[in-house]
Amino acid sequence: MKAVILAGGSGTRLHPLTLVTNKHLLPVFNKPVIYYAIEKLVDAGITKIMVVTSPHHIDAFVKLLGSGQHFVPKTTNAKQIQIVYGIQNEPNGIAYGLFIAEDYIGDDNCVLFLGDNIFMDDIAPAVKKFKKGATVFLKKVPDPKRFGIAEMNKKGKIISLEEKPATPKSNLAVTGLYIYDNTVFDKVRKIPPSARGEYEITSVNSLYLEEGTLRPQVLKKEWFDIGNIESLHKASLFMKKRSHNDK
Ligand code: TTP
Repeated sequence: MKAVILAGGSGTRLHPLTLVTNKHLLPVFNKPVIYYAIEKLVDAGITKIMVVTSPHHIDAFVKLLGSGQHFVPKTTNAKQIQIVYGIQNEPNGIAYGLFIAEDYIGDDNCVLFLGDNIFMDDIAPAVKKFKKGATVFLKKVPDPKRFGIAEMNKKGKIISLEEKPATPKSNLAVTGLYIYDNTVFDKVRKIPPSARGEYEITSVNSLYLEEGTLRPQVLKKEWFDIGNIESLHKASLFMKKRSHNDK
């Protein structure tokens, strides 16, 4: 299993913080946002990661993350963490960002991690048991109208996906973490751009849903989506508190 971290986008909701700097380089307590994604993937046993970002910010990421060698955990047998880089010329959608990694992923399965998401759950079990189809990570939210929402039946199967529904069928938000089999790239090729001109990951997930191979993994712990100043601040406070509790 390889992984793709998306660290492009426009970051308009975080202006002026992101007028010069990329959102994923901003601090959440004592680390840049993207560190949380890399550490989560490394903890799940993933050693090969492509970071996809814009041409404007690629050199800052290379300076910060290098080859990935300093993410090798001291407590395991892993010898190498290899980070490589992909360039997304314009922010034309999450599905397009993933598509850039097609040759890198080769015949493998892949984790797609939106680099502005922070997860406290351990994702290793889901990564280990993944065989085919797609897994989406869902989180119960108090304000489902703001998110992409998945509806599940009594057997725990996903039966619908809706973007920011006016009358949500559930309170389970689709987060920025997905595991896909290798058919994902054929699916990205099939989808048209949306009304806002982006290749949407929801369109890709809908193709898995139609196929009957979209599986849910419901998260139990905290999830942060560093899209706006409130969530950036909330995540920093949470990490600060957590680090003090660890002492
Ligand atoms: P969003 O938060 O949906 O978009 P954004 O980062 O452009 O921010 P804003 O809405 O404030 O302008 O992006 C979610 C994640 O996906 C984030 O980590 C950036 C990444 N992304 C890309 O890498 N490429 C893209 O084309 C898009 C749209 C997002």
